[in-house]
Amino acid sequence: MTSTQVKASLELATPADTERLGRAVGQRLCPGDVVVLSGPLGAGKTVLARGIGTGLGIRGPVTSPTFVIAREHPTLPGGRGVPLVHVDAYRLGGMAELDDLDLDTDLLAAAVVVEWGEGIAERLADEHLLIRLQRPSGDADDTRIAQLCGPDRLIPDPACLAACGETRDP
Ligand SMILES: Nc1ncnc2c1ncn2[C@@H]1O[C@H](COP(=O)(O)OP(=O)(O)OP(=O)(O)O)[C@@H](O)[C@H]1O
Ligand SMILES: [Mg+2]
Repeated sequence: MTSTQVKASLELATPADTERLGRAVGQRLCPGDVVVLSGPLGAGKTVLARGIGTGLGIRGPVTSPTFVIAREHPTLPGGRGVPLVHVDAYRLGGMAELDDLDLDTDLLAAAVVVEWGEGIAERLADEHLLIRLQRPSGDADDTRIAQLCGPDRLIPDPACLAACGETRDP
């Protein structure tokens, strides 16, 4: 069971910062790991997922899966050997539907990143990383706040986080 305690919080000024955070997370993921991305429309969940893909070293591009619910990205030579399954659960009715997708990739062999995945990921793995993205100023600027909750092994180290944005008190 993942605790909802916020382990790290940081301010991401640009999409490049958000992608860098994703890369740092992707470098830590192992087969079977689940990452849930939450936050409103346009918060940057797909940008973050793209960075995770880069950190894993998978075949891209990681884009917004508007017309598909899940996309499988095989690992690339030189990558970390962990494929990515990128799920957009916005229109997914529940766990039964995720089973129904009949993915080729074994979810236990892949890293699974689920946008809008709260309530679903809990059933995929005993523990998961939750990254909540917020837009503190609405449309006024590009600033995003990211909060990370989950097991320590999935939280990038403080130096890595500081390279992505300004860290805040969790
Ligand atoms: N700091 C930032 N981090 C991430 N994205 C940003 C940032 N500033 C601006 N943006 C822009 O916000 C948009 C985020 O889009 P993205 O598709 O990643 O959102 P999303 O959360 O996946 O939305 P949806 O809920 O529709 O799937 C992009 O156009 C991106 O360029
Ligand atoms: Mg998206």
